Amino acid sequence: MSEARQILVTSALPYANGSIHLGHMLEYIQTDMWVRFQKLRGNQCIYVCADDAHGSAIMLRAEKEGITPEQLIANVQAEHSGDFADFLVDFDNFHSTHSEENRELAELIYTRLRDAGHIATRSVTQYFDPEKGMFLADRFIKGTCPKCAAEDQYGDNCEKCGATYEPTELKDPRSAISGATPVLKDSKHFFFKLPDFEAMLKQWTRGGALQESVANKIAEWLDGGLQEWDISRDAPYFGFEIPDEPGKYFYVWLDAPIGYMASFENLCKRRPELDFDTFWSKDSTAELYHFIGKDIINFHTLFWPAMLEGAGFRKPTAVNVHGYLTVNGQKMSKSRGTFVKARTYLDHLNPEYLRYYYASKLGRGVDDLDLNLEDFVQKVNSDLVGKVVNIASRCAGFIHKGNAGVMVDANPEPELWTAFQEAAPSIAEAYEARDFARAMREIMHLADRANAWIADKAPWALNKVEGKQAEVQEICAFGVNLFRQLVIFLKPVLPNLAAAAEQFLNVEPLRWNDHATLLANHQLNAFTPLMTRIEPAKIEAMIEASKEDLASSEAAAAPAGNGELVKAPLAAEINFDAFAAVDLRIALIEKAEFVEGADKLLRLTLDLGDAKRNVFSGIKSAYPDPSKLEGRLTLYVANLAPRKMKFGMSEGMVLAAGPGGSEIYLLSPDSGAKPGQRVM
Ligand code: 2FM
Ligand code: ZN
Repeated sequence: MSEARQILVTSALPYANGSIHLGHMLEYIQTDMWVRFQKLRGNQCIYVCADDAHGSAIMLRAEKEGITPEQLIANVQAEHSGDFADFLVDFDNFHSTHSEENRELAELIYTRLRDAGHIATRSVTQYFDPEKGMFLADRFIKGTCPKCAAEDQYGDNCEKCGATYEPTELKDPRSAISGATPVLKDSKHFFFKLPDFEAMLKQWTRGGALQESVANKIAEWLDGGLQEWDISRDAPYFGFEIPDEPGKYFYVWLDAPIGYMASFENLCKRRPELDFDTFWSKDSTAELYHFIGKDIINFHTLFWPAMLEGAGFRKPTAVNVHGYLTVNGQKMSKSRGTFVKARTYLDHLNPEYLRYYYASKLGRGVDDLDLNLEDFVQKVNSDLVGKVVNIASRCAGFIHKGNAGVMVDANPEPELWTAFQEAAPSIAEAYEARDFARAMREIMHLADRANAWIADKAPWALNKVEGKQAEVQEICAFGVNLFRQLVIFLKPVLPNLAAAAEQFLNVEPLRWNDHATLLANHQLNAFTPLMTRIEPAKIEAMIEASKEDLASSEAAAAPAGNGELVKAPLAAEINFDAFAAVDLRIALIEKAEFVEGADKLLRLTLDLGDAKRNVFSGIKSAYPDPSKLEGRLTLYVANLAPRKMKFGMSEGMVLAAGPGGSEIYLLSPDSGAKPGQRVM
């Protein structure tokens, strides 16, 4: 074999203010499969990632929850790490952009850029929230669309008519954080002079680092002329202060990609055989790959290579871009229950089902990938359970019963064996090119051939024929060998299945090159079922649980508008008519009970004086003994559109305050209020 390659691989750093969902998982699974393939081939391949922990969104969310940003990002990091581990995404390191390594590297890169003349400064006029004392990013400004007069639109575009504009063009602007009317204010900003790198970028983006469609897109931007990039934000901001510029912070997107380097540097401290410069110096011969989604192409193919070049580091070998995930042909939707969090999936289904399904549909391109849930069940059951695992389960019993679990030395169908050998380079090539769909097709084609051969030989019939037992042993030993081949080819996608198969096969962890050998005169361990079929009911349960996630996030979201005036940013102002449209009533909780099969919900039967209502409320975590709620008055939104859930119809919603978990406080009126009374 030629010398092992040195490869550093990254996936985009997830923001530290939200949960990982199946859309994110597409990228991490894609990257992980590619990394596992490289490792299986014997290459030195290092996979690093981190949480993207800076920015005003994280600062404000922490404030809303009444915790420090450091606490928030620590909580989220624990959640993210657990999700990735359970999806078998095997990072060599998962770090944080809010780390000392990242601070040092961000400062180093910035000062090198500055000293080389690639940083400009100038004054920028922006909206400023005088109450909150901070500059407002476009999404924190709301107002009336200058084109169509739709109310309550964001500072950069109108959701009603699609117009894009400057925040200063909005009519009646106000801060989405405090509700105050923003004022215009000047401040010094720092810019990265991207145009300095135009020639280099024109060459690099056409030099094989990008998929063709991505390179074409970038060419449009390059031809349109590059702009200087604003890399600074004013205090208060959660991030790193710019060296020698008190009160000025690096914009989150400046230090985010540097987080790739920081995570690797952090890993080097733990793994002395790794050397930072070997992978990052200008003359590095190691390979560097970034896997990203198509929404963040400009950051990775323009700003990032230019920053690296300007600061004297190597540039990426390639940036691999994938498309978005749709579910059942549509954008993931919270109300349809197709916005599935990683954890909700894991509560119901085996991660390898999804890994295989994604693999079977992932090509080299940037097309969107559809998770069609019916197709998902059908494909996994038919390919993995019906084809791959089936081969072993058909053969193992005869070897255990007829030959004490010892595989005999046999190659009864050399042609078939050769077909498997000949397929290996092509499957490897498909993996290398990230054409997982082709790799899976070729592997399943081999599985079909193996099954057809075994069916034709019918060892179960032959075993009943006097004097044919030796032949049965040859057929089954060969069958198990073919199964072992398939396991090697599938190992990057199905690491757990491979580990269980290695245990059954009684072999050391399989490597790619093991496909060239046959097990002979070899003792097997007992066969245990390697994978079970997906039951469609599990899919339904996952969808219902995702709707439940929504119900409990609504319960937790309720306080933001009406509860913690001090900590929660105020929602955008509404007029009196909008408020009066909400039919708020006093309700008597007649019954409060657990809902079978629901982790977060309580079923409340509400008495409104002249009517009864059934409400599912995500407050179980705070009321472990629901009977204590019975007989109590609370506030109820009576005219919220009913929502159909697995457990029945939920009609409206009760009001509560608090951050969530055990801290959810149901609201109550003063004594004297009567069920059914309107709240105004
Ligand atoms: O778009 C995002 O989710 C960003 N947090 C990705 C950052 S990738 C890298 F540059 F850090
Ligand atoms: Zn408009």
